[in-house]
Amino acid sequence: MRVLVIGSGGREHALCWAIRQSPLCQKLFCAPGNAGIAAEALCVPIAVTESTKLVAFAQDAAIDIVVVGPEAPLINGLADQMAAAGIRCFGPSARAAFLEGSKGFMKDLLARYRIPTAEYSRFRTPTAAKAFIRAWDRPIVVKADGLAAGKGVRLCLTPSEAELAIDTVMVQRTFGSAGDAVVVEALLEGEEISFFALVDGIEALPLTAVQDHKALRDGDIGPNTGGMGAHSPPPVLTPALERDIMRRIILPTVRGMVDIGRPFRGVLFAGIILTADGPRVLEFNVRFGDPECQALIMRLQSDLLQILLSVCDGRLSSVAINWSDQAALTVVMAARGYPGHFSRGSEIRGLERVMGLPDVKVFHAGTRQDATGRVFADGGRVLGITAIGHTVAEAKARAYATVKKIDWPEGYYRHDIGWRTVRHSGSTRELK
Ligand code: GLY
Repeated sequence: MRVLVIGSGGREHALCWAIRQSPLCQKLFCAPGNAGIAAEALCVPIAVTESTKLVAFAQDAAIDIVVVGPEAPLINGLADQMAAAGIRCFGPSARAAFLEGSKGFMKDLLARYRIPTAEYSRFRTPTAAKAFIRAWDRPIVVKADGLAAGKGVRLCLTPSEAELAIDTVMVQRTFGSAGDAVVVEALLEGEEISFFALVDGIEALPLTAVQDHKALRDGDIGPNTGGMGAHSPPPVLTPALERDIMRRIILPTVRGMVDIGRPFRGVLFAGIILTADGPRVLEFNVRFGDPECQALIMRLQSDLLQILLSVCDGRLSSVAINWSDQAALTVVMAARGYPGHFSRGSEIRGLERVMGLPDVKVFHAGTRQDATGRVFADGGRVLGITAIGHTVAEAKARAYATVKKIDWPEGYYRHDIGWRTVRHSGSTRELK
C-alpha cells in the first residue's frame, strides 16, 4: 500500500511511526511532515491547507489511502475531495466534521438524541448572550461556535467574567468568524478524559481513553494549550465505564449522524467529564488528539494501517484491536513563550542520545532539520517524549529521564504529567 499522512505534528509522527511498522505499508509519504517524520516517511512540501495540490499529489503518487491528522482540512472538505478523486481517505466528510466545526451544531445534535451533556443555549448576538448570562447567574462556560485553535473556551465563575468572555469572542472578535455565534453552557465538575472510538459510518469500536494536561504550568494552572502531556489508560476508565460511554454517548451519536444524513467515518474523539451523575460530553473532535495520539499509539499492538483501512472500507465489525497492558505517558517539550509569543530556530541537541532507548519514543512536532541533520525548533509544541512502563509512575519516570538527556535550554515542559494517577499509585521511581 502507498500511504499519505497529512499533517506536521506529534500526532502525525506517531501515526507515521505506527503505519511504517505495518507489513502492508510499501511506501509512506507525509505532507508536510517534520524532522522526525522524515525518518519514517518521505516528506512532501505541501501545506495541509493546499487541498487541490494534496489531491493532485495523491493521484500522481498512486496513493491507496490518505490519513488526515488535523481537523481544519477535514472541516474544509479534504476527505470529500479525495473521495471525488477516487482515493480512500481516513477522516470524515465536511458535513460530518461539522461536529467539531460548530459547537452549536454539536450541542443541538446531543440534545436531539438525548445524549448526556451540560445544559446550554446558543446566541448570535452579544446582547442576547449577556441577558441570558445575567438571568442564569451560575458558573458557566462560554464557547466560540467555530474553530479557535483550542482557545475559544472560557470557564467563568461569575456573570461579569462571562460577559467579558462574550466581549472577547463576539465584540473584539479575537477568534474571527469563529465568534459569529457562541454556546453558553453550565460548568460541570469532575475528572476529564479523552475517549476515542473508530466509526465506519455505521459501526463503532472503542479504542481507549487518554488524559491530557491542557494547562501550561504544573498543578494545571496557567493558560490553556493544545496539551502539555498525556497518559493512557486513565485508571478511572473501568470496563463498565467504557461500556456506558459507548452505549450512552458514542453509539447514539453515530446513529444520530446517520439519521440526519451526515454519516461519520473516522475517529471520533469525545471529550468527556465524569460527573457525580455520570459521563457528560464536553466536546467532540473528528480526529485523533495531540498529544493523546502519541500515548495511545505506544500502547497499540495491532496493525494500525489495517485498522484504518477497515474504517475506510466499512469493515469495522471484522476488526479486533489489541492493547499492551502497559501504561504510556507523553511529556511535551514546548518553546518557551508558547502558547503566546515564542521564537523559532534554537538548536535541539542530544536527540541521538535518546534514539533507540528501550520503551521510549521521541515524537517530533514543530521541528525542522538542515542539510547536515542538525535539528531546530520550528513551532510551539516541539517534541513529545513518550515512554511505556508497567505503571503510569514507571512510564513517567522513564519519560522524564529521557527529557533530561535532551539538550535544549530554550525548551519548556511541565514536571507533573500524570499527577492525578501517580498520586494514587505511589511515588515515582527514578530511572536512568
Ligand atoms: N489535546 C487536545 C486536542 O487534541 O484537542
